[in-house]
Amino acid sequence: MAVLITGIGELTTNDDELGTLTGAAIVFDGPVIAWVGPAAAAPDADERIDVEGRAALPGWVDSHTHLVFAGDRTAEFEARMAGQPYSAGGIAVTVDATRAATDAELTANLRRHVSEAVRQGTTCLETKTGYGLTVADEVRAARIAAAAADEVTFLGAHLVPPGADAESYVDLVCGEMLDSVAGSVRWVDVFCETGAFDEAQSERVLRAAARHGLGLRVHGNQLGPGPGVRLAVRMGAASVDHCSHLSDSDVEALASSDTVATLLPACDLSTRQPLAPARRLLDAGVTVALATNANPGSSYTTSMGFCVATAVLQMGMSVAEAVRAATLGGAKALRRTDVGVLRPGARADLHVLDAPSRTHLAYRPGVPLTWRVWRQGTPAA
Ligand code: NIG
Repeated sequence: MAVLITGIGELTTNDDELGTLTGAAIVFDGPVIAWVGPAAAAPDADERIDVEGRAALPGWVDSHTHLVFAGDRTAEFEARMAGQPYSAGGIAVTVDATRAATDAELTANLRRHVSEAVRQGTTCLETKTGYGLTVADEVRAARIAAAAADEVTFLGAHLVPPGADAESYVDLVCGEMLDSVAGSVRWVDVFCETGAFDEAQSERVLRAAARHGLGLRVHGNQLGPGPGVRLAVRMGAASVDHCSHLSDSDVEALASSDTVATLLPACDLSTRQPLAPARRLLDAGVTVALATNANPGSSYTTSMGFCVATAVLQMGMSVAEAVRAATLGGAKALRRTDVGVLRPGARADLHVLDAPSRTHLAYRPGVPLTWRVWRQGTPAA
């Protein structure tokens, strides 16, 4: 069935030829876009919806979340706000709660957070394992994630389980664990950071992933300077995420690579880390994505709108750059060409704002501006 959405005051397409249109319309044919252009030239359709001058953009592409979890870390957050530093060790608290939860509890928690994200305009969402850290618990997390998320990442190398030997644990991750989850995931990630995995251990994980034909991602340079960014570039990772502490050579390495720098401003704020140097990266020609990093420890928000507003108000990004990073940037970080863009053939993922322009996302921070969302052509909010 063809659906015509018309009366779009400002349409951000992210398509080089179509650009940003005023007085626009878009036609969905089932789950894909059939036509985009000026409203006056729109073809007929079975159903017509007039959005009366509101702004529309591609649905957010949230390329970094950790939503297969149970439990709560409010106390850790309160301690942090009272001055305690964030450390990777907090992950173990969520690992205990996640292992103790039933499949039904983990599924319900994941679905609740995904639908919270969709109601705020997210139409494509990646999520990770990483709160299981045993073969059975990681396999379970991957299976549960695959039923609710667009993209699934294996993050067995999130933390060395308390009491385990790091090298033996990396052997397990690269061997039996990876063999067991490989069929349920597209990506493999590693937390390359002091307190998690060092460069050599991280490289072992990425090499094992590549042998399985899986795509690579890295958590790098989150809590201090380190080798994560350069490792990601050297290994051809699709994305290196966090990037809060970058040297000039990290920025240069990213600029001469296909690796996307995925910035997680809500996490930087919640862990009291410096906001990632978005302006430096963009000025150097690096492809930048924005994502929520939704998880119960370092960044408990599903709001891409909050990330966009923060990027504009505090990280020196223009509204156009931030919106692009939160849509097309996320798609690039996931190496996808069917989302994050509005053009014929792309996924019919549309986010209509209750505002006349995308500028309101930063001009009216904290205000829930999502008016309607279509995900694969189906009304989702
Ligand atoms: O991306 N850095 C590692 N993993 C998560 C934090 C997870 C947690 O604290 O539970 C992150 O910030």
